[in-house]
Amino acid sequence: MVKGVWQLFREDASRWIIQGTLTPAAQVTFLRAIVLLYRYRALRATLWFRIGGWFQRQRVPLIPGIIQRRITTVYGLEIEVGIPIGGGFYIAHPVGTVIASRGIGENCSIISSVTIGMRNEWAFPKIGYNVFIGAGARVLGGITVGDNAVVGANAVVIEDVPAGATVVGIPAKVVRRTGDTISLPGIKVPDYCGEETKSA
Ligand SMILES: CC(C)(COP(=O)(O)OP(=O)(O)OC[C@H]1O[C@@H](n2cnc3c(N)ncnc32)[C@H](O)[C@@H]1OP(=O)(O)O)[C@@H](O)C(=O)NCCC(=O)NCCS
Repeated sequence: MVKGVWQLFREDASRWIIQGTLTPAAQVTFLRAIVLLYRYRALRATLWFRIGGWFQRQRVPLIPGIIQRRITTVYGLEIEVGIPIGGGFYIAHPVGTVIASRGIGENCSIISSVTIGMRNEWAFPKIGYNVFIGAGARVLGGITVGDNAVVGANAVVIEDVPAGATVVGIPAKVVRRTGDTISLPGIKVPDYCGEETKSA
C-alpha cells in the first residue's frame, strides 16, 4: 500500500517525540504534529520534503523544483524530493546535509553534515532500513548500506556495508557486527513512499 503524505509525516514526526527514538506513529495526533513542527526546524524540512515528493509523484510541473529549492535556502538541506524514503526519516540537523540516493529505507537517522551521493561515476547509494549515519559521514557511489547498519561520525563509505555492521574511518571499515543476518540483497527500500520492493 502506498502511504500518503500524512502517514509518512506522522512516522517522521514520531521520531521527534523523544528525539531520534522509534515511537509508534499512532502517538502523533494532529495537535502533537503542530507542536513538534513548531519546535523542530528539521521536522519542518522533512514535511516540505514529503510535500515536494507528493507533487513529484503527481507529475505536477515546477512545484517540486520550487519546494526543493526552498528546502535548500531555508533549511540548508540539499535533497532531491523524488527520492523514495520510508517513514520515520530523522535528520537531526539538516544544515550542510546533501542527499542524493537511489532510496532510503524506513526509520533511518542522519545526524548532521552528511553527504550521500555519487563518487566518480553517476551512481548513488541505496540505504537500508533503520540505518544510522553519524555526523560528517560521506556515503559515496553506487553502493548499498545494509539494514540496521551504523556509519560512524566522519566515515567515508565507498564499499557496501553488510546489514547490522558498524563502519568507521576513511575509507570506512567494519569494526562491529550485530547478530543480524539479513544479507545485502534482502534490503528493503520503499519503491515509492511505503510501497516496499525487495531489490538488490
Ligand atoms: C561508531 C559509533 C556509533 C560507535 O559505535 P560502537 O559500536 O559503540 O563502537 P565503539 O565506540 O566501541 O568503537 C569501536 C571502535 O571504533 C572506533 N571508533 C568509534 N567511532 C569512530 C569514528 N567515528 N571514527 C573513527 N573511529 C571510531 C573506536 O575508537 C573503537 O576503536 P578500537 O576498537 O580500536 O578501540 C560512534 O563512535 C559514532 O561515530 N557515533 C556518531 C555520533 C554522532 O554523529 N554524533 C553527532 C551528534 S550532533
